[in-house]
This record gives sequence, C-alpha cells and structure tokens, in this order.
Amino acid sequence: MKTIIEPFRIKSVEPIRMTTRAERERLLSEARYNLFKLHSDDVIIDLLTDSGTSAMSAAQWGAVMTGDESYAGAPSFYRFEAAVRDLVGFRHVIPTHQGRAAEHLLFTLIARPGDAIPSNTHFDTTRGNIEAAGAEAVDLPIPEGRKPAIEHPFKGNMDLAALEAFLADHGPRTPAVMMTVTNNAGGGQPVSLENIRGAAKIARAHGKPLFIDGCRFAENAWFIKLREAGQGGRAIPDIVRDMFALADGMTMSAKKDAFANIGGWLAVNDDALAEAARTRLIQTEGFPTYGGLAGRDLDAIAQGLKEIVDEDYLRYRVRTNAYVTERLDAMGVPVVKPAGGHAVFIDARAFLPHIPPLQYPGHALACALYEEAGIRGCEIGTVMFGRKPDGTEAPAAMDLVRLAMPRRVYTQSHADYIVEAFEELTARKDALRGLKIVKEPKMMRHFRAEFEKV
Ligand SMILES: Cc1ncc(COP(=O)(O)O)c(C=O)c1O
Repeated sequence: MKTIIEPFRIKSVEPIRMTTRAERERLLSEARYNLFKLHSDDVIIDLLTDSGTSAMSAAQWGAVMTGDESYAGAPSFYRFEAAVRDLVGFRHVIPTHQGRAAEHLLFTLIARPGDAIPSNTHFDTTRGNIEAAGAEAVDLPIPEGRKPAIEHPFKGNMDLAALEAFLADHGPRTPAVMMTVTNNAGGGQPVSLENIRGAAKIARAHGKPLFIDGCRFAENAWFIKLREAGQGGRAIPDIVRDMFALADGMTMSAKKDAFANIGGWLAVNDDALAEAARTRLIQTEGFPTYGGLAGRDLDAIAQGLKEIVDEDYLRYRVRTNAYVTERLDAMGVPVVKPAGGHAVFIDARAFLPHIPPLQYPGHALACALYEEAGIRGCEIGTVMFGRKPDGTEAPAAMDLVRLAMPRRVYTQSHADYIVEAFEELTARKDALRGLKIVKEPKMMRHFRAEFEKV
C-alpha cells in the first residue's frame, strides 16, 4: 500500500472549540499579539510546539499507574535509567523536570563569563542558559542550513571547517562543543552520523567534550537511516546508540522524543561532572532519583522511549510534515526544504517581502494564520533571536514560522485544513502588516513581549 496511515487507533479524544474570525481578531489583540498569551482552548489547531504535547499511548498511561512516588530509590527511577541507558549509553543519567533544567545544570557547571560554546545551532533555551552563565552561544551551521530553499539531506550539519577554525582561535575559552539533533532552530533538519563523528574528532583533538542536545534523536536517526550511505539496513536503536557513542554527554527534553508531557535528563560519562550535577540537582530540582519529576513521569518516559524508535511511527511522523511541506511548496508558499522531522517551516521573509525583518515578517505571518484559521504556530526569527545581550537589535539569519506537529495528535484532515488556511492567506498576503514591540523582557523576549500592528 502506498498510503502511509497513522499507525494507531484513537481511544480517547479531546474536543476542539471552533471560533470565528471576529472572535480570534479580538482574542489576539487582547493577547497583545503574542500567541503565547492566548488561552489554548481558543486555538483550533495548536502547532505552537511539539514539546510536551504528545498523545501518550495506552501503555504509557498504564505505566503511569505503576509509578512509585518514593523520595529516594524508587523503582520508577531505575526503569527510567535503564531505558535511557539502553539507547544512549552514558554512565550517569540525571533526571530533570525538562530540557532547559538539564541545560541550566550543565552550563552553570562548565561555562564561565567570557567563554564561548559552538554548536550547529543552539536552541533558544540553550542560548539563554549559556548567556545567563555569561558565555557566548556561537552557531556554526553549514552554509546550506541558512538557505531555506536549498535541498540538502543533512541541512542540520555543523560546518566542521568553521568549528576547527573556531577552536584554533578560541580554544582556551571554549569549555565544550554542542550538537543539536535535529537542528530545531535551523528548520528541524537532521545531522548525519558522519558530521557528528567529524565534530567529535575535532572536539577531541582540541581536548573538548562534545555534548548532544538530543531532543529529537529518534527523528534524526530515521533521517540517517533514510539518507546516509550504508545506514539503510540498520535498526533505529543501533543508529541512536552510534550517535551518542560519539559524545561525552547529552541534554534531553523528554517532552519531545520520549512522548512524555514533562521531563528531561542530563547524561554524562564524566564522574566528577556527574557528582557536581547531582549536588546542584538537589538544590534546584530534587533528589537524584527523581529530579523534578514524579515517579509516574519517569515511568511514562521509560515506556515512551521504547515506542519512539518504532519505524512505523517514525515513517508516519516524518511523512506528515513532508505532505504539508510538499502541498505548500506546490502552491508557491516558500517553505524550508526538505521537510524537517517535527515541523513544517515557512520562510516568512520570502512570503512577505514587503515586511522588513525588524517588523517581524515571521511573527506577522504567525498572527495572520491564527486570525485566518485559528492555527497557532511560532515565529523562529527576529523576535526570537534578534535581541542581543547588550539590548541592541538586528535581523536574525532567517524569519521562519514553525508549525510544530504534536506527536500522534492530529490526523490527515487537520493537515488538509492547514494547507487550506495557506490558500486563503496567499490570496491576501500583500495586505498583511508587520508589528512593533511595545514591551519586552531582557531575555527570551518572544515568550512575553507585547506587540502592536504597524
Ligand atoms: C532543540 C531543543 N533543545 C532544548 C529544548 C528545551 O527543552 P524544554 O522545553 O523541555 O525545556 C527544546 C525545546 O523546545 C528544543 O527544541
């Protein structure tokens, strides 16, 4: 059969509240044109994030009931630790309440003011935690990674020549190298095994540890299986093990590729770093056998990790985004190509060339999509990345809108509704206006900034 179906049946449903355009225009204006300030029951299709929004399986809900809530030494922790270790192999597995808590632990321990940490592309919370430690977050994607319309099988790769040059120049102030898989801020694009191997080799030659931000490791492994020479016949868990065997540690948000609604971890091989992290964990998150989590969350993650490497799931998952991307491309909407693993990315700067980057074309498109069809996406562009630590502002490398697909939540007709919304928007795109910021916090402004239409 050619049709790739959702490889699950639906046993429990949540109603969607339908709204009118007039209602949505009022709601968005009341939310000061910040989509994060909307109430989620005012959203028809919520593509704000794929983080924590997965539909858990019957087996995960069953595992929730086996959760042991003991303060120390709960069996839930040991099931969690075994499931994580089975896939990633690191010696120390330290649970945290989500990915950014793992980043906070890591960077408060390894980064000092004046340091720099290179990556293929840092995600916003990673950047925020590095900058909060007084260090600089440096992005070194391959040139193709910054060109939305160019096809490349591993557009998330790091520019290895740039990494080598960076470490030659800035080695003394570089405590570690990071690699984000898949590259979320760069369009959900995968990183090849060969590129991880190359980055690890360069990092090691300079005496630096390599940490992987592994949020979407299973989607990354699926792309490696599909696209990398010699990997086609291999099992996903084996590819995953190979990816992490190249690194010294990882940060993880279990809200992505573990199908959990909350959770994360820091995993490392270094005994001294693990000891320091556990000491800090007790101050900030909780005892090392629960992190910031309930025992039932640890069990949901342990079961989710078994399901996330299922090939039927990964085939359907990646195909959904490719389907929407191909249909938008066919109607002339500029999209990031090829389709990423967890989301569809629209190049808003190209779609709305009449809106200058400092009037936030990505944010303008995300707002218009909500007003048009009640679909909530997220700007990944100048609002998110344009404000520098010194308070000045410059256009980001790209102005994208990310439509992140929650895992196992929406169906084919939801995908068709998204495509139809873009047909409507394309017809009136020249009338869309940019926005200006009227209030913003100093860091990670996209979450709480307030806007007015220009
Ligand atoms: C690549 C990447 N790293 C880190 C994070 C942070 O994870 P969390 O939201 O669990 O704090 C995210 C979340 O969106 C992400 O996409």
